Amino acid sequence: MRISVIGCGYLGAVHAAAMASLGHEVVGIDVDERKVEALRAGRAPFFEPGLPELLLEAGAGGGLTFGTDIAEVAGARVHFVCVGTPQMAGEFRADLSYVDASVTSLVPYLRPGDVVVGKSTVPVGTAERLAAQLAPTGATLVWNPEFLREGFAVEDTLHPDRFVYGLPTDAEGVATPAGEAAKALLDEVYATPLSDGTPLVVTDYATAQLVKVAANSFLATKISFINAMAELCETAGGDVTQLADAIGYDARIGRKFLNAGLGFGGGCLPKDIRAFMARAGELGVDQALTFLREIDSINGRRRERMVELAREVCGGSFVGKRIAVLGATFKPNSDDVRDSPALAVADMLEKAGAHVVVTDPQGIENARAVRPNLEYEADVLEAVRDADVVLLGTEWTQYRELDPAQLAGAVRGLHVLDGRNVLDPVRWREAGWTYRALGRP
Ligand code: UDX
Repeated sequence: MRISVIGCGYLGAVHAAAMASLGHEVVGIDVDERKVEALRAGRAPFFEPGLPELLLEAGAGGGLTFGTDIAEVAGARVHFVCVGTPQMAGEFRADLSYVDASVTSLVPYLRPGDVVVGKSTVPVGTAERLAAQLAPTGATLVWNPEFLREGFAVEDTLHPDRFVYGLPTDAEGVATPAGEAAKALLDEVYATPLSDGTPLVVTDYATAQLVKVAANSFLATKISFINAMAELCETAGGDVTQLADAIGYDARIGRKFLNAGLGFGGGCLPKDIRAFMARAGELGVDQALTFLREIDSINGRRRERMVELAREVCGGSFVGKRIAVLGATFKPNSDDVRDSPALAVADMLEKAGAHVVVTDPQGIENARAVRPNLEYEADVLEAVRDADVVLLGTEWTQYRELDPAQLAGAVRGLHVLDGRNVLDPVRWREAGWTYRALGRP
């Protein structure tokens, strides 16, 4: 099937390549010429494991093209909207200008029976508004939220946990005939993963839009819950990692997303819970989501606590102290530094007077662009040279596997701060280090 994908960022580029790998003829559109150039050449414009291979494979078959001109979508039967919905500057609301611009630009190319598929994360009510805008074209809107995780985006796109289709419904809540026809077309697009047994939940527009923000709010809540327990452990003397293991054995709770540390960051969780609160306020049900404000606060407090821990280890002052921060990205296997806890802590330490050197396997370029005040060093052994404190901010495998004895030869002070609770305290202490972490004795 001929498909278009509007927006070739972390979501759209992977979606385009994945759909091409399923045998569809895909054109990806983005306004950023450099990004399109890279994609045309079969290069991923950002770090995402598996994407380069997918681009080369799909590109070689001729079924995957990229362009900056929206007119190239002509002839496609299904159009995926994959643009970003960042947080508005100075507000909690999401900025919908890219979604609106994408849909408006598609209108001249839509024919009756075509399907526009919204994948971007939007405040509930957006799909209803966009569907009304599309009505005169005879095209149908389906809301099909995307749940991919960065670092596992290819796997999550080709083998998702579930599909959600939000269809247009009549007054009784039953899908309209146009909605049923659109569903059939989307089933054809996803025929391979559907035949593999991927569950499909068919809903109305409102539910489909809410599913995405509800899922991200739940994940954020789980992380902040365990980080709140870490706060308790710090005062009461407990160990939050053991606590997480112990409660995680209860299948109703589960161990996933109970890793205490510097908390959540990235381009989704922080802005999605804020946009959700803003939308609830507009709908007059802000009380229902007041708890998310606390989830956000707990998350922010972890960063401050880490700075305090570092100050303690430095003897009360950062003056003349050198701190090596391992990790700049918001999580491993990504080059994304949006709202990165590691980078935020590095910045806070620098502003508090420390000399901070940041290292990261993939994120230095992006980090330098947003935090040019920090010093960067690609080589980890160089980054820790003469450091008074080594702080692990992002749990890249290469940092988890560092040899404390080898590192001891390069640093000035044998102090390690584990911001992700992934290092083995016994091993580090045996090598002469003082080991401190969030939520542990
Ligand atoms: C998230 C959702 O998981 C995904 O379904 C949605 O589509 C987009 O948002 P992503 O932003 O890629 O995906 O990252 P995720 O793996 O969820 O991690 C988010 C943040 O939480 C990271 O900063 C990570 O370090 C942190 N985290 C995660 C914890 O602090 N503890 C945990 O136990 C898990």
